[in-house]
Amino acid sequence: MSRVVMNVDAPTTHISRHIYGHFAEHLGRCIYDGFWVGKDSSIPNTRGIRNDLVAALRALKIPNLRWPGGCFADDYHWKDGIGPPEQRASIVNTHWGGVTENNSFGTHEFMDLCEMLECEPYICGNVGSGTVREMSDWVQYMTAAASCPMSDLRRSNGREEPWKVRYWGVGNETWGCGGNMRVEYYADVYRRYATYLRNQPDNRLYRIAVGAGTADYHWTEVMMREAAELMDGLSLHYYTVTGTWEDKGSATEFTEDEWFTCIRKALRIEELISRHSSIMDVYDPEKRVGLIVDEWGTWHNVEPGTNPGFLYQQNTIRDALVAGLTLNIFNEHADRVHMANIAQTINVLQAMVLTNDERLVLTPSYYVFRMYAGHQDAKRVPLVVEADEVEHDGYQMPTINASASVNNSGDVLVTLCNIHPHEPVNVDCEVRGIGISQISGQVLTAPTIDAHNTFEEPERVIPKSFDGASFENAALRVRMPARSVVALWLR
Ligand code: AHR
Repeated sequence: MSRVVMNVDAPTTHISRHIYGHFAEHLGRCIYDGFWVGKDSSIPNTRGIRNDLVAALRALKIPNLRWPGGCFADDYHWKDGIGPPEQRASIVNTHWGGVTENNSFGTHEFMDLCEMLECEPYICGNVGSGTVREMSDWVQYMTAAASCPMSDLRRSNGREEPWKVRYWGVGNETWGCGGNMRVEYYADVYRRYATYLRNQPDNRLYRIAVGAGTADYHWTEVMMREAAELMDGLSLHYYTVTGTWEDKGSATEFTEDEWFTCIRKALRIEELISRHSSIMDVYDPEKRVGLIVDEWGTWHNVEPGTNPGFLYQQNTIRDALVAGLTLNIFNEHADRVHMANIAQTINVLQAMVLTNDERLVLTPSYYVFRMYAGHQDAKRVPLVVEADEVEHDGYQMPTINASASVNNSGDVLVTLCNIHPHEPVNVDCEVRGIGISQISGQVLTAPTIDAHNTFEEPERVIPKSFDGASFENAALRVRMPARSVVALWLR
């Protein structure tokens, strides 16, 4: 029996809604043939953006969307993507499949999308092949109200009022595809960019420096030592790869052994956050600078027969568990993790939605984000978790993983993951500080470890109403099926 103690009467950190952010890169079929079908498409759209996608994502209350990359960002010159579409220069997407893009989706279209989704934009600027001036012009183009060459250019392109754009990333993976820089060099580059990305009277910027890939603690140390005072956030990228980078493993054909390996690697995010945070604590004990996990999720082999450069992968109940346990861990570290962005929203990596012409399917990961949406902007409830453990390949892993929050109305959301591929677990929760008169919830599970939704069978893995929880003698008992994510509302 696993045990959880919830101190509802001692809520602590605010869980930023931005932890539930998303990422959309010009990669494969995420933007083109994903969000963007074009105004003349037979697929119902509003100004070129797919209506059914917008409706599906609005149900997740997505708080922010990172764009245009990824590696693509450091090859992207934003002026190619403004003005009359027929006059925009085509470009070749050198990172992802070598395809030609006509730039019909640019700054204005992205902002239109964000307005439809009611989310905040998070722009990743070009440091690798761009200039300080190019990025500072982009900031002015989008956010300046006063007349100046860039705001006048925006007006000539049909947008009178400046947009509000808080989040700006100063490059992407500058240790790799974003310029192969040493951190000692990038720290100075960052300082220079941060200086020239100006606030406007009505638009204060939140500047995000490129942080470490996985466990590069030296990178975090140098960036915090040399540039913390000029940044609001420092990023971290971590992907869950079951196999090796050369052969990552199939998204849908895997053994129980590979299930455990995948889950174990996903759980590693806890150690990464703790260790990067402890370095950040030395330079920023007040935790002003956010750890921004702006790329995370599973990375499997592409679906057979698809373009290897398009990173199109299926998504099973295993991916849903990775999403659930990772979001629980982010909530638990909400004092330092101020934002996160799963990669990527549509048709790429651990997607929320897959599309095929006019058809659209919601993935198991999508449902986890929907079940967890109540944590956004709630207060974290401190938990003590004593989980039964399972041993795999010499590693001990907790069978359950949890987080809880309380919202302004006093309602408590508890989210639990049973990572075990074939054993149910019982969880005994002591709930301190509130009386419970009503329990309701949902469970996401599936008959097999590789279950997933397809265009032919889109509802194989969907949440169902959960009747496995009861409240007796101040104890909440939860009977979780194997391989399941449970979200419980206590009122
Ligand atoms: O998300 C796919 C790629 O992974 C991004 O473009 C890059 O930043 C990362 O390496």
